[in-house]
Amino acid sequence: MEEAYSLKVPKRLGEKAIRLASKMCLLNKELKIESEGEYLHIPLIRKPLSSEIEEARRALKCFEVHVRNFKRRRKVPRRAFDVAAEKLPPHLLASFPRSIDIIGKVAVIEIPPELEKYKQAVGESILESHKRVHTVLAKASAVSGIKRLREYEVIAGLGETETIHREHGCVYRLDVRKVYFSPRLSYEHKRVASQVKEGETVIDMFAGVGPFSILIAKMHDEVKVYAIDINPDAIRYLKRNIVANRVSDKVIPILGDARRIIRRSLKETADRVIMNLPEKALEYVEVACEAIRPKGGVIHFYSFEGGLNPVENAEERLRRAITEAGRKLSRVLSAKRVREVAPGRWQVVVDASIN
Ligand SMILES: C[S@@+](CC[C@H](N)C(=O)[O-])C[C@H]1O[C@@H](n2cnc3c(N)ncnc32)[C@H](O)[C@@H]1O
Repeated sequence: MEEAYSLKVPKRLGEKAIRLASKMCLLNKELKIESEGEYLHIPLIRKPLSSEIEEARRALKCFEVHVRNFKRRRKVPRRAFDVAAEKLPPHLLASFPRSIDIIGKVAVIEIPPELEKYKQAVGESILESHKRVHTVLAKASAVSGIKRLREYEVIAGLGETETIHREHGCVYRLDVRKVYFSPRLSYEHKRVASQVKEGETVIDMFAGVGPFSILIAKMHDEVKVYAIDINPDAIRYLKRNIVANRVSDKVIPILGDARRIIRRSLKETADRVIMNLPEKALEYVEVACEAIRPKGGVIHFYSFEGGLNPVENAEERLRRAITEAGRKLSRVLSAKRVREVAPGRWQVVVDASIN
């Protein structure tokens, strides 16, 4: 609540009074207009001058001015770009990052070279416009290595990189610096989870903190999901996330190399295998085929592709690898571009039924 001058008018004069207060630059837009019986209280930014009272008297005839308490309006969030427009030289505004990845309370952006000098201002704009964000990170390297991690630079906020991200009604605790997670795959997580059928056994070969595995378990009663990852931090968070999302009876977290784990204990067990390691998925098709039951199953194959026909390339490469593994790609259920990861380079998914 906040104390302010009020222009009290009968409701029938409400619209006219609001327009007048606005025209006289007296309307306080940060406070809510209040209704009381037959009257409206219109919040003003200050006590009106006697000349303004005269003008109101001519226009409204019937009104009172006094002080009262008003509720504050919820602030309309300002887009980061609009906030940045007040902080950056105008000629650089066109370079303002087009996309911001929000992972829980952490925002991740790419700073183009021309904005390097202003990266702090860019970070501050994001903090100001996204009230729930407490840390803004700039990408400082490409995703690389077996754990698929990248370097980040803190450009604004607390610098805390552990956070809780919500997606499709599930919660994922994760540290952006220690594990792979991309909110851009949100649609894929849902798309794949929606295809799972009751009674299936699923192997999520490259599970990360669990966005496929946990959602599958949340959406289906009778499923068993083996969620494998080679990154100990990913498995540590996955275990916490399994508990937090109450799917301990359906998701089995396993730390290690998917190839070794499948060959050791999961051969011919799966109705469905998710292969979300686009950089290297082709190298794992053989073991994915070994994981699929003899009667057949489905593989969700992600890969990075360039060229004019990225989707056809992925299909072709998958078909060849399945044949080399001694099985048959019986049907491509769906194949599409997921997202552009670099100019002319695409992440592609192929859902294939194999016998
Ligand atoms: C692109 S991330 C995908 C994570 C998750 N599926 C998601 O959508 O957020 C790939 C994951 O595979 C893991 N990984 C890489 N090589 C692996 C292997 N040989 N066996 C198991 N996990 C592996 C990495 O640690 C990383 O967490």
